Amino acid sequence: MSDITVRKIRFSFEDLPIDLDVPDAQLPKLLGTLGLSMTMPYLEPYLIRTMKVALKRIEDEALAEDVRRFSQQEGHHYRNHANLNARIRDHFGGPVAAELQAIEAALEDDYQRFTRGKSLRFNVAYAEGFEAMTCAFALASAEHDGFEEIPGGEIWSWHMAEEIEHRTVAFDVYDHLVGSYAYRVAVGTWSQWHYLSYIRRFARCMQQALGRPLPRAPLDPAARTALRNYLRTWSPRYNPRDLPIPEGVSELLARYTEMARAS
Ligand SMILES: [Fe+2]
Ligand SMILES: [Fe+2]
Repeated sequence: MSDITVRKIRFSFEDLPIDLDVPDAQLPKLLGTLGLSMTMPYLEPYLIRTMKVALKRIEDEALAEDVRRFSQQEGHHYRNHANLNARIRDHFGGPVAAELQAIEAALEDDYQRFTRGKSLRFNVAYAEGFEAMTCAFALASAEHDGFEEIPGGEIWSWHMAEEIEHRTVAFDVYDHLVGSYAYRVAVGTWSQWHYLSYIRRFARCMQQALGRPLPRAPLDPAARTALRNYLRTWSPRYNPRDLPIPEGVSELLARYTEMARAS
């Protein structure tokens, strides 16, 4: 029996205020997080396509069930982010919305190319590189301040809680089908560079539209925790199963289970 719960949740963003008028020190996190949302409708379907191919080779039924639930969770994530992203594009409007869409198209093109042309070994290493980095970030945000100042309401705490919940899946698939530590670090690091380069493009586009400079601020406590968590993923002994889970995550997950049941 899998420990992963699939929660079909749809948040409404139609009347959501997009308040980007935050103090300078909060601007990098705000734009980085909105940039992350912009990537989701392309990154998460790519992970789902990768897992669909991986499933044909997975011989462990418990892992196969985790993979199916992982993919369903990611499916609900990106559908909500697509709706939030439409609100973000509307907020900027005109040429900025078109520029955001051009970056989205380039990202989709990359991921479709990876699905068509790259090996399963590469694609599962990419998936694990992304999931390990995201889990490091999600654990830090659960431990610190969360996402209160980021537009999108509860999409962030729901998504990050489920990223923590399914943190072992991409790692286990990689371990089952590939296993090489050196390849995990090499392709994982490249995948993180590739993914973050798109976050930077989205953030720069929105920053230029706002006409505000990005301040060079020291890392806040949450960012320092995220960096420390991330560096641990490079260890040959790294296994997301061993990570301590901050207080409150299981309560959050239980709350979203109820929300999904009630909807
Ligand atoms: Fe996700
Ligand atoms: Fe994920």
